[in-house]
Amino acid sequence: MKIEDSIMKMKILMISPECAPYSKVGGLGDMVSSISKQFAASGCDVKVFTPLYATVKRPDDLEKQMDNLSVHMGLGLEYKAAVWTSKLGAAQMLFLEFNMYFDRQGIYNYGGVDFSDNGGRFAFMTRAALDWCLQNDWIPDVIHCHDWTTGLAPVLLNTSLRASPLGGTASVFTIHNLQHQGVFDRGVLEYAGVPMSEFRADSCESYGSLNMMKGGLYNATKITTVSPTYAEEIRTPAYGCGLDGLLRFRGADLVGILNGVDTDVWNPETDPMIPANYSIADMSGKAACKAALQKKMGLKVSKKTPVFGVVSRLYSQKGLDLLARIAGDLVSNMDIQIALLGSGDEWQQKAFSDLSTWFSGKIGVYIGFSNELSHLVEAGSDFFLMPSRFEPCGLNQMYSMIYGTLPIVRSTGGLADTVDQYSESTGAGDGFKFSDATCEALYNTIGWACSTWYDRPEDIAKMRQNAMAKDFSWSGSAEKYALVYKWATAARSAGI
Ligand code: ADP
Ligand code: GLC
Repeated sequence: MKIEDSIMKMKILMISPECAPYSKVGGLGDMVSSISKQFAASGCDVKVFTPLYATVKRPDDLEKQMDNLSVHMGLGLEYKAAVWTSKLGAAQMLFLEFNMYFDRQGIYNYGGVDFSDNGGRFAFMTRAALDWCLQNDWIPDVIHCHDWTTGLAPVLLNTSLRASPLGGTASVFTIHNLQHQGVFDRGVLEYAGVPMSEFRADSCESYGSLNMMKGGLYNATKITTVSPTYAEEIRTPAYGCGLDGLLRFRGADLVGILNGVDTDVWNPETDPMIPANYSIADMSGKAACKAALQKKMGLKVSKKTPVFGVVSRLYSQKGLDLLARIAGDLVSNMDIQIALLGSGDEWQQKAFSDLSTWFSGKIGVYIGFSNELSHLVEAGSDFFLMPSRFEPCGLNQMYSMIYGTLPIVRSTGGLADTVDQYSESTGAGDGFKFSDATCEALYNTIGWACSTWYDRPEDIAKMRQNAMAKDFSWSGSAEKYALVYKWATAARSAGI
């Protein structure tokens, strides 16, 4: 990565509720991990502050860094917490141990029910991160905040901590998903130690409640989101989840930067989790992956039948309810198979499980979270389905393309930005896109992919090559983030 010297010496604190491989619910965990590694590798001092959940697999190099961190909450409350450290590439992990909030199964929820103290839990994480900097005399140039759980950091930097050594630190707030805003009782603001004067419509208040995302968006020095198209979409009522007016207001400070992929982890040439490695020059290993996937998912092992893969959270964002409605017709009317790995809404889990029983051998389903199986689905499928209603960036379509698996996507957010539409007349492109979030549109697009598979196999081979040749590494995106960090520190130095 080419970045200027001034950026290379920067101190960057990531505050995040997830960081792969330690904690991951979705792509946010992957993104935080890979951007941190990327900036640390290019000479920045990067630290990632995140909770030590009960579910974190303790790394071998984990060491206690301090056991007397004083966390200063509002109302004069002071708690003692411990911080553990380990390496993440050249970056430093800082794990916050505080059992009352984090020693439990689940990150945000358990058994489909959100924890009732999430406001307090993540206000505590945020305040602890800032207190850690102050008590360790490590003052970052930039604090990079990720989604609603960290929304109070920019607010604290502008208010209670403005006169502290952190008062000159810039904040960059990344929107990974505007749908989840962290709406809680106003008491959480008081608990976080934010002055109650911030409980107003042009800061943290929304319809009589605290809205952590809104506070972050009003107060951050600069704002990013994870694709250029989503950066435009969220300025409209259809995608703005009630915050489109605010995002138009802050529009001059908001940019969309695509997430990169951690190619150490997602690479068919080296991936240890798949049965055979392969590359653009020698695709033979992909057939072995397909056979292994078909076997694992209880599908009929057949080279000629195309497999349509899914790896996803099963919530309305992802549009897989549309697939649940048409999957039976699809496998009855076309010679195709579906392999789905996912978890989420009860009804969707049940619907897909039932489909795998009714259409056994044609629809294979694994309900749960399995990192290993997710790699096999990417490698062993021929097509990958993402009919998302909205998709801020989406990582799976990029993983798919790297593995020569052609994405079928609704053209929204990062899906619109990363997939190039197939052209039947020229054979160009690397995927299939459609616009309407309807069963018909999804059915017809899968039909189009299926007919291309059977009737124009040379186009499929060409598209695979196109997809695998694309560069989804972090280098380009990291340069854009470096500019944002520089832009944010310049603005903060000017007193903004
Ligand atoms: P989102 O963050 O909205 O869920 P992304 O496409 O950005 O969507 O990232 C999802 C990440 O989570 C990917 O790394 C994907 O492989 C992973 N993932 C989602 N569901 C599962 C699952 N059931 N098992 C394993 N990995 C999953
Ligand atoms: C969110 C979005 C997803 C994005 C990920 C990482 O979970 O839903 O589209 O890829 O964050 O930024």
